[in-house]
Amino acid sequence: MPVALSFDQLLSAKDIQKQDIDLLLNTTDRFHQGMKADASQFLHLAKGKIMASLFFEASTRTRFSFEAAMYRLGGEILTLENGGSSSSIKKGETLSDMGRIVSGYSDIVVMRHPDSGGVKAFAEYSTVPVINAGDGPMEHPTQSILDLYTIHYFQKKLEGLSIGFVGDLKFGRTVNSLVQLLAFFPNQTFYFISHPTLRLHPEKIQFLKDHGHRVYELDQFENSISEMDVLYMTRVQEERFSTKEAYNEVKNHFVLTKESLNKCKPTLSILHPLPRVNEIMPEVDLHPSAHYFDQATFGVYVRMAILFHMLEGRA
Ligand code: CP
Repeated sequence: MPVALSFDQLLSAKDIQKQDIDLLLNTTDRFHQGMKADASQFLHLAKGKIMASLFFEASTRTRFSFEAAMYRLGGEILTLENGGSSSSIKKGETLSDMGRIVSGYSDIVVMRHPDSGGVKAFAEYSTVPVINAGDGPMEHPTQSILDLYTIHYFQKKLEGLSIGFVGDLKFGRTVNSLVQLLAFFPNQTFYFISHPTLRLHPEKIQFLKDHGHRVYELDQFENSISEMDVLYMTRVQEERFSTKEAYNEVKNHFVLTKESLNKCKPTLSILHPLPRVNEIMPEVDLHPSAHYFDQATFGVYVRMAILFHMLEGRA
């Protein structure tokens, strides 16, 4: 088992190596089990450290789970929501200059930005580690570690899985980052189910095939659901469309109901990064395969592990 991460900054799922996943899942499990026994036992691990939490785009889970994780490790928080309107970015300050400044006030930075490359521009001049908490349509690396942890928790393995991804696969940053990491584990079968205008990027499909995985692109999930170990639902994101009409054309295309789960494996895990809109009916929440609320809860333990290892060894 490795003892340190291979990266200093976490800007992309591409920064994460297989040994990092092993280390982070192992540490997450220790925090998960440990927190159940005594939630105060980790309060010394980030004592005296400050995390800057900079959000330029709406968030519930990522922001609060990172902030809860830092508190659970005994650290302190500087927090900024609505970064575009309540920081000096509004006066014309660049993200690069903001990186120079905020890294002088903190030991680690967690940042969400609506533009691809926004977090990278900040990180370029930051003197402390920066974690991408979701930028634009392509990257959400900490969500991917969380998704892997949840899959492993319920499936007891990460290889040889049949995984269905449903919804917005074009702008869905959680899907883009997660498939990058699932590719490390052999013998996967991927079902990508979307409206034709929201397909996964062709280079990502090729990447998975090049790694020896089976890939199917489908228009509906009903016929393949009985094959799946994991069903990863996603929201069609209104904020990624240029017009309301374009969004209306594709929204509500896939809706998971109790009935659509009639033929699923009893061991199926239904995941969703959340928030959901209409793609999972509330009636599914009581189904034994519905694990998306557990997934959100696990975010604290995963982010404790990420913060702990990224802060470890830094003066
Ligand atoms: N999963 C996720 O990124 O949720 P939030 O947008 O609420 O942070």
